[in-house]
Amino acid sequence: METWGAKVIPSPSPYTKSGRKILQEDPDNPGSLGIAISEAVEEALENPDTHYALGSVLNHVLLHQTVIGLEAKKQLAKVKHYPDVIIGSAGGGSNFGGLALPFMIERLSGDSCTRFVAVEPASCPTLTEGEYRYDFGDTVGFTPLMKMHTLGHDFVPPSIHAGGLRYHGMAPIISKLYDKGLIEAVAVKQTDVFKAAVDFARTEGIVPAPESAHAVKVAIDEAVKCRETGEP
Ligand SMILES: Cc1ncc(COP(=O)(O)O)c(C=O)c1O
Repeated sequence: METWGAKVIPSPSPYTKSGRKILQEDPDNPGSLGIAISEAVEEALENPDTHYALGSVLNHVLLHQTVIGLEAKKQLAKVKHYPDVIIGSAGGGSNFGGLALPFMIERLSGDSCTRFVAVEPASCPTLTEGEYRYDFGDTVGFTPLMKMHTLGHDFVPPSIHAGGLRYHGMAPIISKLYDKGLIEAVAVKQTDVFKAAVDFARTEGIVPAPESAHAVKVAIDEAVKCRETGEP
């Protein structure tokens, strides 16, 4: 077999990965993003031609995702609007950071009073109930420690939770801004999230993903509040 220089791992792999070990001790363990990250790091450590870049939480991921906020800013400028409230779903904080940070510049320089609302699942309430302290990004503890809001690196959300955003920690940048009171956080129940998604699909003809539906839910709540107070 041509391997193109890559190391061949015999199949089945002789390595017992963290997930396998955790299942041996707890056969009903439903798994978590933290366990998946530990396994990915193990894979990278075992294979010299393999590297691992965390896909959420870290600064480079938030930076990459600022394409969302930069584009939103241009779209709003085209219709001569600037947002009063920016609402985003928060799992590890990367898509929320990507949306919010390009607008945070004006807030920090005192040129806007935009509110920033991170929406998380009530069954994984990292910002609203997590502690602000140093923790690992993965279950086994392979990653460097990060100061962030965390539910603990061994946190596993209840298996009934199907709405995503299951990560135990929150991006250090988002955690810091939350700690400074520049970002608000709301935890929502998944049945309410799914109801908002269905309402949104019926009225807009767009079916949102469960994760995005967290933001849709709170955007609807904000719109209803404005309708009630008469705010345009
Ligand atoms: C299903 C799913 N998608 C994406 C993410 C990453 O979300 P974020 O954009 O907040 O980093 C998570 C993290 O919890 C998740 O559980």
